[in-house]
Amino acid sequence: MSTSERTTIPPTTASDGVDQQPAVDRARSDAGQVAADAAEVYERFFVPALFGDWPPILLDRAGVADGHRVLDVGCGTGVVARAAVGRVGDDGEVVGLDLNPGMLAVAARAAPDVTWRQGAVEELPFETDSFDRVLSQFALMFFADRDAGVAEMARVARPGTPVTVATWATLADTPGYAAMAALLDRLFGPEVASAIEAPYVLGEPQAVGELLSGHLDDVAVEVVDGTARFPSIDDWVRTDIRGWTLSDALTDTQFDVLLTEARRDLARFADGDGRVRFPAPALVTTGLARR
Ligand SMILES: C[S@@+](CC[C@H](N)C(=O)[O-])C[C@H]1O[C@@H](n2cnc3c(N)ncnc32)[C@H](O)[C@@H]1O
Repeated sequence: MSTSERTTIPPTTASDGVDQQPAVDRARSDAGQVAADAAEVYERFFVPALFGDWPPILLDRAGVADGHRVLDVGCGTGVVARAAVGRVGDDGEVVGLDLNPGMLAVAARAAPDVTWRQGAVEELPFETDSFDRVLSQFALMFFADRDAGVAEMARVARPGTPVTVATWATLADTPGYAAMAALLDRLFGPEVASAIEAPYVLGEPQAVGELLSGHLDDVAVEVVDGTARFPSIDDWVRTDIRGWTLSDALTDTQFDVLLTEARRDLARFADGDGRVRFPAPALVTTGLARR
């Protein structure tokens, strides 16, 4: 959308933040890095809205079972790792690794029985062939070096065992976020909108298939239906802004403007009781570590 089509938000006072461009940290958005307080919002509101349905699907596709040593890469607050604990039993072990200490602090409070490690997927601090299953849910698109990340996941997986990765389908397949990104672009410009678009950059099966095939055998990509659910439009906006990479970018006044516009612009995604639901499909891709 061109600048001239954007809604002009009338300035009130010079210091209220309305007439300023939001201060987007692009590197942080592209790397999926949230502030420490945003990690709490992520766990409390984002996980039930978007992420919580997926761990059993990934664990099933990967065949996680009793006695396995499992690695969850880009674990965030640990939804996959926590679900894996019940499957591997007392003889297994679950390790969660993430770049972000705020996410890991929330994860460790929720599940002290998982081994939580801070680190980058591009340089995993683990022995070669040391895990029975390696999983990564909705993190691959944020890796600084995706190819190196996949190579490392393949390296630490025992030869012949599955490495399973979830990525969101395209923005066009996810109408609620396509509309949210268009609204942010109209109000605040493309830098702000790009923070909402970043999770969808690996939505084409061919792109993710090729990426994994560089380091894994027998790669298969499956498109799986999913649904995003928020209690209301206000909750949706609050979760997306305060629980993700834009948490410090918008002033309170800009946030209020966004809320007002969203109630009208995104109303078609809410039912008669105000609850929000829209399709949020994902690609679940599995390949086997090379022998
Ligand atoms: C959208 S969150 C997904 C978290 C979790 N897997 C879930 O499904 O709720 C993406 C996570 O990937 C992590 N991440 C991004 N780049 C990373 C990297 N290079 N190495 C390790 N973790 C990374 C981020 O810190 C963030 O916690």
